[in-house]
Amino acid sequence: MSEVSCKDRFDFMNQDELKQAVARAAIDHLVDGAVVGVGSGSTVALFIRELGQIRNRFKGAVSSSELSTRLLREEGIDVLPLEAVGSIPVYVDGADEIDPGLRMIKGGGGALTREKIIAAIAERFVCIVDQSKVVPVLGGFPLPVEIIPMAGRQLISAFGRLGAEARWRKGYFTDNGNPILDVHGLMIDDPVGLETELNQWPGVVTVGLFARRGADVALVSDPKGILTLTL
Ligand code: 5RP
Repeated sequence: MSEVSCKDRFDFMNQDELKQAVARAAIDHLVDGAVVGVGSGSTVALFIRELGQIRNRFKGAVSSSELSTRLLREEGIDVLPLEAVGSIPVYVDGADEIDPGLRMIKGGGGALTREKIIAAIAERFVCIVDQSKVVPVLGGFPLPVEIIPMAGRQLISAFGRLGAEARWRKGYFTDNGNPILDVHGLMIDDPVGLETELNQWPGVVTVGLFARRGADVALVSDPKGILTLTL
């Protein structure tokens, strides 16, 4: 990971203000006239507000969740079906954790499946986070896994055999109608290997590890300003 730039000092900012600053910084990474891919979460909600200010500069958005779709429409932004879109030059999304290899844990907000589909298609993944999300090793944040309900018991046992504890996210169903297991206690020192392995488990819909397709750039807001991290 290399730090390529740092601009504007943000001394004395709280976490919400740091999120706002990084949401604004993402605007510089968009491609004019193109479709923008839009993630989900509280940082992305602020990014959507910024997008609303410049909505005439791009063609429309592809959205990763029902909530982001609603927020985009409130800003007067066209939400296009993924199937109707030729290319997505830039996808902007937050993360629950990001490591120095720009691999991420995502899905704290439950939108991991659609996020992963759009991220896979996008030419460039711009991750927007505040400094609290940057970690040396992934796994402090419980790993979200969207599953098919009837596989729940077996999957909880299988995670137990890895030394982890998978817990149902109580009362929660994704936009796809599936439950989520939040997996506590994983030390993820091989994110690509673990993602590849978990993808094979019957009943797993989507693993919230974004390692095989990580971010291309991370914009990180901290009190020193916006850091731009690339590989
Ligand atoms: C939603 C996500 C979010 O990007 C992640 O949870 C970060 O959210 P926030 O910006 O609210 O901290 O993966 O599924």
